[in-house]
Amino acid sequence: MNVLVTGGAGYVGSHAARLLTAAGHDVWAYDNLVFGHRAAVAPGRLIEGDLLDKEKLADVLRGKRIDAVMHFAAFAYVGESVTDPAKYYHNNVVGTLSLLDAMLKTDVKRIVFSSTCATYGEPESVPIGETQPQAPVNPYGYTKLVIERALADYARAYGWGYAALRYFNAAGASADGDLGEDHDPETHLIPLVLQVALGRREHITIFGDKLPTPDGSCIRDYVHVDDLASAHISALEKLKPGTELRCNLGTGRGTSVKEVVQACRDVTGHDIPAKVAPPRAGDPPALIADASLARRELGWVPRFTSIKPIVESAWKWHESHPNGFDA
Ligand code: UFG
Repeated sequence: MNVLVTGGAGYVGSHAARLLTAAGHDVWAYDNLVFGHRAAVAPGRLIEGDLLDKEKLADVLRGKRIDAVMHFAAFAYVGESVTDPAKYYHNNVVGTLSLLDAMLKTDVKRIVFSSTCATYGEPESVPIGETQPQAPVNPYGYTKLVIERALADYARAYGWGYAALRYFNAAGASADGDLGEDHDPETHLIPLVLQVALGRREHITIFGDKLPTPDGSCIRDYVHVDDLASAHISALEKLKPGTELRCNLGTGRGTSVKEVVQACRDVTGHDIPAKVAPPRAGDPPALIADASLARRELGWVPRFTSIKPIVESAWKWHESHPNGFDA
C-alpha cells in the first residue's frame, strides 16, 4: 500500500514508518517538524507540511496515490493541554478534521489513528478493557476522544475503515539504536531517568510514594514503541470498508515508578539518585491495559513484556545520542 504517516518524524510515527517500509509498503512521512525530527525520517521520504493545510494534504494524497493514512501528528503534553486547551483543540481536533476533509476529497478511506489510554481518565478498575467508560480528565484526552468519535461517524456514513489504537505508555527505542525518544521539553519518566544516568540531570523526582500501590509509587503499563508500530501495521492490513477497531495497546503488566528507576540503575550501572515529591496533579495511581482484544482482533502479541529489555533499548539510543537527533 501507499501509506501517508502524519507525524512520521515523531517518536511513534517514525518507528511505524520504518516498520511499514520494511513490510514492503511505500511510505511518506508528513510532518511540520514542530516536534518531529528530519533525521528520524528515511532520506527523501519527508513531506514538510501542516495538518491545517488541507490543500497540501489533498495534493499529497492524490499525488502519491495514497491508499491509507496512519495518523500520529498531535500535541501530547497533558499538563500544557490543561493550561492552553485552545492549542490542543486547534491542533489535534481541527487539524485532524482538516486531514479527514482531505481524505474525503481524495477518496482515501482507510486510517489508523494514534489514540491513548488518557481517553479513559480515572479508570473504574484495572486492567482497563475497551468497554470501560471513556471519561478523560484532561483536554488532551478529550481531543483524542473527539477524534475517535468522528472516525466512528465517518466510517458509518462514508464506508471508511478505521482503527483507533489506545496506547498506554510508549517506551523504548529501535533495536539498532538509531531511532528513539527525543522530546523538548522531555516529561516522560524513562528518558528523564536515563538523562540522570548520562549526567545531564542531578536526580529523578518520583511523583508520589504514598499512593495505594504496593510500593506507593504510580504504576504504568510500558509498551515498546516497536510493538506499537507492529500493531499499527496489523491494523492497517485488516481495514476494509466499515471496519471499526478500537483496541488498547499495552502489555497487561504494570511497573511502578520505583521499579522503573531500579531497572534503569541495573541497566546503566549508574546510581541514579531519586527524590520524592508530591504526586503530579491528575495522575491516576495505576493504569494497566487489558489488551486481549488486540490479541484476538490483530493477532498482536507484544515482544517486550518486561521493563528491563525496554529500558535496555532506550539506553542504547540515549547513550549513543545524548543530544537526541541533534547530536
Ligand atoms: N513520573 C515521575 N517523575 C517524573 C516523570 C514521571 O514520577 O519526572 C511518573 C508519573 O507520575 C507517572 C509515570 O512516571 O506515574 C509515567 O509518567 P510519564 O510522564 O512518562 O507518562 P504518563 O503516564 O503521565 O503519560 C502517558 C503518555 C500521555 C498519556 C498518558 C495517559 O505520555 O501521552 O500516559 O495517562 F496521555
